[in-house]
Amino acid sequence: MSRLLRKATAVAVSLLLANSPIFAYELDVHSTDSIKTVAQQLAADLMSMYSGNQPGQTPGLLPQPYYWWEAGALMGALVDYWYYTGDTTYNDITQQGLLHQVGPYNDFMPPNQTLTEGNDDQGFWGMAAMSAAEYNFQNPAKDKPQWLALAQAVFNTQAERWDTQHCNGGLRWQIFTWNNGFNYKNSISQACFFNLASRLALYTGNSTYADWAVRTWDWMAGVGFIDETYRIYDGATVEKNCTDITPYEFSYNVGAFLLGAAAMVEYSNKAGELSDVALWHERVDGILNSTELIFFFGNDDSDKVMIEIACESVNLCDVDQQSFKAYLSRWMAATTKWAPWTFDRIKRLLQNSAQAAVNQCTGGDNGRMCGLKWANNSGEWDGTTGVGQQMAVMEVVLANMIEEAKQPVTNGTGGTSAGNPGAGGSDNGRVDPVKWQHGVITKGDRAGAAFVTFVVLAALLAALVFMFADETKTPGENWDNFRSTVSSQPGVRSAEVTAIPAVQVTEDGGTMPDRKGKRSAREETSAAAFKADAETKATLYLVNQLVASDSDWHRE
Ligand SMILES: *[C@@H]1O[C@H](CO)[C@@H](O)[C@H](O)[C@H]1NC(C)=O
Ligand SMILES: *[C@@H]1O[C@H](CO)[C@@H](O)[C@H](O)[C@H]1NC(C)=O
Ligand SMILES: *[C@@H]1O[C@H](CO)[C@@H](O)[C@H](O)[C@H]1NC(C)=O
Ligand SMILES: *[C@@H]1O[C@H](CO)[C@@H](O)[C@H](O)[C@H]1NC(C)=O
Ligand SMILES: *[C@@H]1O[C@H](CO)[C@@H](O)[C@H](O)[C@H]1NC(C)=O
Ligand SMILES: *[C@@H]1O[C@H](CO)[C@@H](O)[C@H](O)[C@H]1NC(C)=O
Repeated sequence: MSRLLRKATAVAVSLLLANSPIFAYELDVHSTDSIKTVAQQLAADLMSMYSGNQPGQTPGLLPQPYYWWEAGALMGALVDYWYYTGDTTYNDITQQGLLHQVGPYNDFMPPNQTLTEGNDDQGFWGMAAMSAAEYNFQNPAKDKPQWLALAQAVFNTQAERWDTQHCNGGLRWQIFTWNNGFNYKNSISQACFFNLASRLALYTGNSTYADWAVRTWDWMAGVGFIDETYRIYDGATVEKNCTDITPYEFSYNVGAFLLGAAAMVEYSNKAGELSDVALWHERVDGILNSTELIFFFGNDDSDKVMIEIACESVNLCDVDQQSFKAYLSRWMAATTKWAPWTFDRIKRLLQNSAQAAVNQCTGGDNGRMCGLKWANNSGEWDGTTGVGQQMAVMEVVLANMIEEAKQPVTNGTGGTSAGNPGAGGSDNGRVDPVKWQHGVITKGDRAGAAFVTFVVLAALLAALVFMFADETKTPGENWDNFRSTVSSQPGVRSAEVTAIPAVQVTEDGGTMPDRKGKRSAREETSAAAFKADAETKATLYLVNQLVASDSDWHRE
């Protein structure tokens, strides 16, 4: 071929390529350079959906329709991104986002969010802070909250909320009485708490955390949220003493328990408790068994790929669920550091999944955005994009570098994050809405702020009584009527959680129509509408409290 012809051919080919909308990541899961290059692009596309660091925006928040918790999960993903790649591009944004959301008590209970905050939501922020401590992520200035202390604060507030009144223990899903789901104890709230407790035990060597991890696991097994084959179900209601188990299985539950169990292996090793080592070793294996069985799809062992089985193949994964594979990927990889015998098994699953994951990242305007479906789709983009989809692919790609990543540190092995065992103490178990409305009320405050609020509420109350008043009845009858109306507001104290069809794997590995579970209660409405609804409920709750308590809280 003449030189001219060769050149002409090259030009033609490059023109063709430039005009082609098809972009495909070329990922070599065996090459660190390849993984880093792909992860860098995935991270950039992920961060194109985050604007919290822009002027006029709120650090640590994602735009609608993403809930607050997912921004915390994103901060955790960015800590991971730096841990694996060493690329510091997003470190300051991550630190800014985490610190902006700590709230007045430094425990990830910011007032803007507490109306709708669940234990699991708070838990995801706490776990991001825990990762920052374990990986020696850049420490905030001395006068700012520190990573370890933040994780301890989340732990302390949640330990205080452990509820022995119903189902013999466990955390409720929601923190506040007026939220849908206050009557529901769900696995992910326990999973986050267990995950934090076991990692804090390992990091600090303090056995109190380990005791809580044990208590949480035992309770989960006791009520049957974890069954004898280590499958983990969604949750159940307090009215039925946690016997009405919602049978759906989500990947973040097994992921969070897997990593926590691995941390307990390492903790027990360090403490020289050999029988505990054996116990937690078996539990790690058991959860890995159920994880591979339920959340990986393929014809044989060599081609299994991660799947969010309860919703993916029927296109019913909600905004939250679209991100769950990110956490399963994150926690499976991290498990190999404390449970090294799992490495070959986990690595094989993560390799298959990463390859399948990037193969379908051919969407969006730039031709490389990722959809949700990795398994069972021949690398075809499913037409969706989003923070969850992008974050999940980034995490599973990064996870393939786990053998090169540093061992997480502890306080005794180079950890530099400052702790505070009593962190969050002034905010413990904040379930009292009156206290929550006013902060911790001192006697002096009561005459001022509390009184103003009382006047406002009293005016509102008068207006409501007026609205409900029926002139054919006496004032006394009207009052009773009003009281019962307020008390029976749907959702004020508890609400049944609605569910919509999805699929669930059956024993034989097939699928059957089923229901999607508790998250849909939130999904039915936009985040803003949900929040407005919660605010109405909070107000009604306060009015109800005033009526019921004969207004004595403001008198002293
Ligand atoms: C709370 O909301 C206000 C008003 O939107 C905002 O300025 C502030 O930064 C928010 N705080 C947090 C911690 O998100
Ligand atoms: C409620 O469930 C717990 C834990 O499963 C059990 O120990 C307790 O006996 C049950 N209580 C009632 C009243 O059924
Ligand atoms: C995990 O699965 C393997 C293979 O089926 C089995 O031998 C082992 O007993 C299981 N482990 C646990 C803890 O269930
Ligand atoms: C796999 O793909 C086939 C064909 O599209 C579909 O019928 C089946 O439901 C899929 N299974 C899962 C678990 O996604
Ligand atoms: C962590 O280590 C430092 C220095 O060795 C020590 O002063 C501190 O008390 C330790 N903290 C905990 C929680 O063990
Ligand atoms: C261990 O943790 C518990 C629970 O947070 C705390 O009360 C206790 O002070 C801690 N002990 C030490 C030595 O740090």
